Amino acid sequence: MTTAGFAAVPHVSRVAGRVRVPGDKSISHRYAMLAAIADGESRLTGYAPGADCAATLACLEALGVPVSRGRTVITISGLGPRGLRAPSAPLDAANSGTSMRLFAGLLAGHAFTSVVGGDASLSRRPMRRVIEPLTRMGATIDAHDGRPPLTIHGAPLRAITHHPEVPSAQVKSAVLLAGLHADGRTAVKEPTPTRDHTERALEAFGGRVIREGDTVAVDGGQRLRAIVADVPGDISSALFWLALAAGTPDSDLVIEGVGLNPSRTAVFEVLRRAGARLEPTLQHTAGEPSGSIRVQSGSPASFEITPDDVPLMIDEIPGLAALAAMQPGVTMTVRGAKELRVKESDRISMLARGFAGLGIRVDEYEDGFSIHGGPPSGGEADAAGDHRLAMAFAIAGSRARGPVHITGADAVAVSYPGFFDELDRIARG
Ligand code: S3P
Repeated sequence: MTTAGFAAVPHVSRVAGRVRVPGDKSISHRYAMLAAIADGESRLTGYAPGADCAATLACLEALGVPVSRGRTVITISGLGPRGLRAPSAPLDAANSGTSMRLFAGLLAGHAFTSVVGGDASLSRRPMRRVIEPLTRMGATIDAHDGRPPLTIHGAPLRAITHHPEVPSAQVKSAVLLAGLHADGRTAVKEPTPTRDHTERALEAFGGRVIREGDTVAVDGGQRLRAIVADVPGDISSALFWLALAAGTPDSDLVIEGVGLNPSRTAVFEVLRRAGARLEPTLQHTAGEPSGSIRVQSGSPASFEITPDDVPLMIDEIPGLAALAAMQPGVTMTVRGAKELRVKESDRISMLARGFAGLGIRVDEYEDGFSIHGGPPSGGEADAAGDHRLAMAFAIAGSRARGPVHITGADAVAVSYPGFFDELDRIARG
């Protein structure tokens, strides 16, 4: 139960039945943005209900895009290439790094100046990684020591080939979106693969994407066509229930209608290494693959997340830490994950502090941590304004020996507004 951002976590003794999770955040942002620059009216069902994707819609409206929010369908009337209009006030990306970085790419080729800002957490996040390539393409972007707010002076763009230093789907997407408005072929050569929702979304909107080995490219000047699409459930939200079921003896849970894009499912292997039994069933294969996942608890084992694993499961690390925290004798070690320090919070030190508050030992490294399973004794953890930390502490806390309280629990609204109601339902059995 949550009151004014303070959540008392219910105790869970077995996880069974069926769960659905909110629509995928990454896919929702991309469908909305591409719908805005396509020709025609797009109709999206399953659009992510959290604050992040609401921020993207509000920014689009401020850019002149007609958006209508029905009970189950979001309708977006596209303005065509370079059709966005100069906003009359700064755009507010709130807590959403994806909104800010992807809008930077989208706005770089529009011939007006716009400002994109966000909340205190977003204002601390690094933006040079998008400013540098977009500047090379011809835009001028002012920032404060590489941090938001961004003032984007759009301009005619030239194509580039970009080699990002850090693997980042957001950076890849920003450059590809700018590439739609550039002269020539814009390419991104990735150091290691990242989620490919932008590529799939572009194809769904009738765009052409050239994929060759580790390079993905788009030609400028393409016109996109409106779509009617359903956004599958977010696997990063599902992961919290997968972790809870995996770490709770005698559990057997099915998650329905969830995205199973192969660039997001590498985490299944880690769950298996941790002892869980998982059976994904693919039901839809066109565009964004989706289906159901059955998870059963197995024999708990210690597990590692290597530097190579990290880019494909960066958002899942807090939930995996919760799985380790619940199980006596289990250690999870993650290395090569320095990027965690520049997410919605510093997800290494805030995770360590929060779990310590629940009686769990975490050894912190510059690029990762080791967490030593309990179960948690109970206590209080601060979500530090970070939705995924709030959910990770709640999941581990639901298996604690004593009462658990989470402060700042209302941060879950960023990606999973009904999270605590679902946890209460699961706890009731
Ligand atoms: C996202 C990409 C990831 C992820 C974020 C969403 C996306 O960030 O952490 O929550 O939708 O492209 P990076 O690509 O910067 O690692």
